[in-house]
Amino acid sequence: MEHIKRYHSKQMVVNGRKLLLEGPVPAERLAAMRFDEGLKAFRIPEEQQKALVEIAALPEGRIILAREDDLVLGYVTLLYPDPMERWSQAQLPDLLELGAIEISHSIRAGGVAKGLLEVSFSDDAMEDYIVITTEYYWHWDLKGTGLDVWEYRKVMEKVMGSADMMWMATDDPEICSHPANCLMARIGKRVPPDSIVAFDAMRFQNRYLF
Ligand SMILES: CC(C)(COP(=O)(O)OP(=O)(O)OC[C@H]1O[C@@H](n2cnc3c(N)ncnc32)[C@H](O)[C@@H]1OP(=O)(O)O)[C@@H](O)C(=O)NCCC(=O)NCCS
Repeated sequence: MEHIKRYHSKQMVVNGRKLLLEGPVPAERLAAMRFDEGLKAFRIPEEQQKALVEIAALPEGRIILAREDDLVLGYVTLLYPDPMERWSQAQLPDLLELGAIEISHSIRAGGVAKGLLEVSFSDDAMEDYIVITTEYYWHWDLKGTGLDVWEYRKVMEKVMGSADMMWMATDDPEICSHPANCLMARIGKRVPPDSIVAFDAMRFQNRYLF
């Protein structure tokens, strides 16, 4: 499958900061930017920048970011699912995982996460993909936000729902291990039925339980 990446952008002002939301951003441009010190939910900012540069260089990888001049204050990643996860079992060329979304503390709750998804899905090429996100409460910044798991889950539903990512049932043991965890997905308009059938088969692998 050819992965077509068309650039889109949008401007926003949050807490007096003029932001450009843009992407997919090429690896070399991302490597030349700076990462805000508030981007530390998953790794220290320098290491997260390196990981994102690698994703941007993948044929299917997409990084959409929010920046003030050359300072990155938020990002979304889209790439093939981890080979260790069941979502890669069928090796679907048209299934991407929204692997991480992070917004720096100083501009949170200002609509940037929703804005990044808007830019991400502005590319018509996204209609050729199933995009999934696996939400595990242990990845959430409960401490930094002061939200409880259900309040945080609501925020994730609002963010993902803004791009028509819908809750989907699955018997994946890690997702089922806590009721706040969930699978959400968006099936693009041009995704062929065969891919949807293969995705459904990955969602349910213990049918004897039902
Ligand atoms: C989760 C996260 C990405 C949200 O980003 P954000 O830019 O603050 O989200 P938005 O401003 O677009 O908010 C989306 C909705 O949630 C609400 N919201 C966001 N933060 C909130 C908070 N702390 N309390 C209550 N509501 C909140 C917004 O008001 C908005 O609601 P609306 O749709 O009714 O207007 C951000 O908190 C973050 O980076 N967290 C750490 C990393 C993480 O947990 N990522 C998710 C797992 S990969």
